[in-house]
This record gives sequence, structure tokens and C-alpha cells, in this order.
Amino acid sequence: MSLSAIAQRSLLAAKAASSPLAPLATAAFHSSASANQATATAHIVNKEPIIKTFSIYRWSPDTPAEKPRLQQFKIDLNQCGPMVLDALIKIKNEIDPTLTFRRSCREGICGSCSMNINGLNTLACLSRIERSPEKETKIYPLPHTYVVKDLVPDLTQLYKQYKSIEPYLKQRTAPPERENLQSIADRKKLDGLYECILCFCCSTSCPSYWWNSDKYLGPAVLMQAYRWMIDSRDQFGRERREALQDPFSVYRCHTIMNCSRTCPKGLNPGLAIAEIKKQMALDG
Ligand code: SF4
Ligand code: SF4
Ligand code: FES
Repeated sequence: MSLSAIAQRSLLAAKAASSPLAPLATAAFHSSASANQATATAHIVNKEPIIKTFSIYRWSPDTPAEKPRLQQFKIDLNQCGPMVLDALIKIKNEIDPTLTFRRSCREGICGSCSMNINGLNTLACLSRIERSPEKETKIYPLPHTYVVKDLVPDLTQLYKQYKSIEPYLKQRTAPPERENLQSIADRKKLDGLYECILCFCCSTSCPSYWWNSDKYLGPAVLMQAYRWMIDSRDQFGRERREALQDPFSVYRCHTIMNCSRTCPKGLNPGLAIAEIKKQMALDG
């Protein structure tokens, strides 16, 4: 944008702000906004309370001799947002600030809030609270992980394994001067793979991963390995597969499919692993 255009735009904005009608418009906006807010608050306050119990796994490294336990918290669902993450934030803000969990985006994008809710590995920010007060909600950290504190799992091993598959574009030829172009059909091959948010709900639901997480890479990492193997711009597909040629890295997958059932993004890591095995067989 040219300097004169910027100046013109600033001038128009300044004019609008200094118009005699501007304070009236602003005041009208504020009064209608606060009226709406008051109505909304009254609406919440007037509702009959629905008291729901949340049983949450607690363990602190500050008191390592104390065994892990479930702690119960009661919340009025009419004073809380609809998702399990809303309840956790409310408990932390209003009842117990020591309750520890990860979260960031609160919209299923960052993968931080993965945990086990009522027996299912999922994202707290995408899980609706069941509104039946008689049924308590049980929340644990992701299963078969070391726990840092309360609902925070130690993901060191998972990230080490993720690093091991070299999750980035590798090419022998010199990079092109502009974009690495792909056909529409080749780009489509990445659908269902690139959406993975590395929440690790799948890997921590996989019995094979529970027993062999030191040597088996698990569904989340293998799906990312496949994502790079089939990227038309990557030139190291065969080498990527060769690096997995041992009895554990891939072949500990027994197609139990817990991984695909639990993925909160609706992805299918079990299928990606099957594709890797097929390509490894074809490589000969
Ligand atoms: S399909 Fe493979 S990776 Fe998925 S849960 Fe089963 S054994 Fe684990
Ligand atoms: S495949 Fe699904 S469950 Fe597994 S890490 Fe990616 S988003 Fe999470
Ligand atoms: S807070 Fe980001 S995925 Fe739940």
C-alpha cells in the first residue's frame, strides 16, 4: 500500500472517530452489549444447579512417597462451559490451583489437552461433559505413560521417536528456485495424514506400544513416517522404509486398530501402518 493510501485511510478513520455521532454510536454499542451480558448472566444464574462430580487423577513429584489417588470435585454445570476442558479450567481457577494439565488452543488444534476421559483417550477441549449429574466423569492421564504431574504425561520418548523418522522434506536434487510444486492428485494423497496434531491418543491406546514402546514406533509416529514416504516431493521413500526394516519398528503392529478408533481427529493410523508394510513388501 502506498504512503498516500495509508495516509488517506488513517484520515478516514480519524474522521469517523471525531464525527459528532461517534460517541453516541459507541455509547449505544456499550449499553446494548452490557444489556446483553446482563441478560446472559441472569439466564445462567437463574437456572437450577446441575451438580456434577469429576474424579481426577492426582500425583505430585513434590510428594513422591504419596500414592496416586482420585480426587473428587463438584461443579455446577450451569456455571461452566460445555467441554471437559472448561470444567478443568474452572476447577483450577476456583477450587484447586495446583491441579495440573496441558492445554493451549482449546479448539482441537494444538494436541496439548489429550487425556483419558471415561476410559477413552481423547482431547479435553473436544469432549462434551455428559450432563447427567448421577454419572461422575473420570479423568486420567494418557495410559502407560510416565506422569510428570497430575494429568501431564511425559512425552519424551514419543518425541524422540518422532525425531528419528526425520519428519521433514528430504531431496537429493538442489531445491527449486520457487515452490516445490505438486499435482492435485499427489497433494490429495496427504489428506488424512497431514491433519495429525501429534496428541498421541493413538500411540497410548495401542497395546503393542504399551509393551514395546522402547523399540516399536507406534501409530502416531508411523503415520507421520508414511506421510513423508508418499509425499511426491520427497526423494528418500525407500531409505525411510529401509530404516524401519527390523522386527520391532513397524512389525509390532498387529492391526488391533485401537489407534484408529480413538483418534479424536478421525484419522486412521492403522491404515497408514498397513500401507507402510505393503510398500516394504513390494520393495523386496
Ligand atoms: S493397529 Fe497397530 S498401531 Fe493401531 S492399535 Fe493396533 S497394533 Fe497398535
Ligand atoms: S493420529 Fe490422531 S490420535 Fe494419533 S497423534 Fe495424530 S491426531 Fe492424535
Ligand atoms: S487445547 Fe489444544 S487440542 Fe485441546
